[in-house]
Amino acid sequence: MDERMVTGELQSEDSTVELSLRPITLNQYIGQPKVKENLSIFIQAAKMREEPLDHVLLYGPPGLGKTTLAAIIANEMGVQFRSTSGPAIDRAGDLAAILSSLEPGDVLFIDEVHRLPRSVEEVLYSAMEDFFIDIVIGTGPSARSVRIDLPPFTLVGATTRAGLLSAPLRDRFGVLSRLEYYETKDLCSIVERTADIFETSISQEAALEVARRSRGTPRIANRLLKRIRDISQVKGESEISLETTESALKMLQVDDVGLDHIDHKLLKGIIEGFQGGPVGLETIAATIGEESQTIEDVYEPYLLQIGFIQRTPRGRLVTTKAYEHFGLKVDGKN
Ligand SMILES: Nc1ncnc2c1ncn2[C@@H]1O[C@H](COP(=O)(O)OP(=O)(O)OP(=O)(O)O)[C@@H](O)[C@H]1O
Ligand SMILES: [Mg+2]
Repeated sequence: MDERMVTGELQSEDSTVELSLRPITLNQYIGQPKVKENLSIFIQAAKMREEPLDHVLLYGPPGLGKTTLAAIIANEMGVQFRSTSGPAIDRAGDLAAILSSLEPGDVLFIDEVHRLPRSVEEVLYSAMEDFFIDIVIGTGPSARSVRIDLPPFTLVGATTRAGLLSAPLRDRFGVLSRLEYYETKDLCSIVERTADIFETSISQEAALEVARRSRGTPRIANRLLKRIRDISQVKGESEISLETTESALKMLQVDDVGLDHIDHKLLKGIIEGFQGGPVGLETIAATIGEESQTIEDVYEPYLLQIGFIQRTPRGRLVTTKAYEHFGLKVDGKN
């Protein structure tokens, strides 16, 4: 896939700045009020009981702050943060090595937890439930099963696709937190906070404009701000202005609700090829030359969120709202 300005997924240009932009405490973590309130109660209670926090599953679209929140949980609990990912753990032995190196109370973060190999996942069940693992040592007739006791720990799992998690694994998380797309006012605060860290100032209207076009996603807001700041600096501005923000976003081909050429291709494909639908996902995929899985996982979620597309039993339907966005009239059929 091409690098997109407006994808929530991590792009190579993000990695250098993201570390410095991560909030460290729950208080610095902007937005997601429900998730924050829940976690803060569970964290306080666990600390009062001097027990590790219950296992936490964080799920939601890319770039909304799952990894950030996992590190915050460890920090708030005052324990070490150990981080790995589903695809990085090939064998049960790898997991055993990680688990037995934990200190009591530690947070083990497994990103993309839905991609753990099945054999590794099965080892995790007893580890999560009763803090022990049984592993088989050796092969053939000399093979024997060894029980290893583990320190109590907290597993924080993250996934963009909770639906792909097996039921036995999902059931072992005591806290399930779904991250939502951010409200504009929260994104606006994130843009202002990031500008502070960049040591640049931004006008209020400009911050709001970036927030409105960031698809509810902090990672996108930060990425756009970084590009706009560069342009503003070259222009010699002392404060990032709305005018520069608007022209920069135009140059970056991000329209006024945060859509880019790929969104346009998808929407126009349905409007022009199928009178706005409903049309099946596979048909759309074939028409615009993209994989149906990519459309479903990457392109479509935000368009559904803002009500530009609807899912119907007969396929995808482009809404009146989307027609109006393009300045088009809906024909009699819709
Ligand atoms: N609530 C927040 N307040 C301030 N900044 C945030 C917040 N959430 C996320 N960010 C910023 O967005 C960036 C991306 O967040 P993060 O890497 O945690 O997302 P993620 O959900 O783990 O994404 P992925 O699905 O790709 O793993 C972080 O570097 C951080 O700067
Ligand atoms: Mg992450």
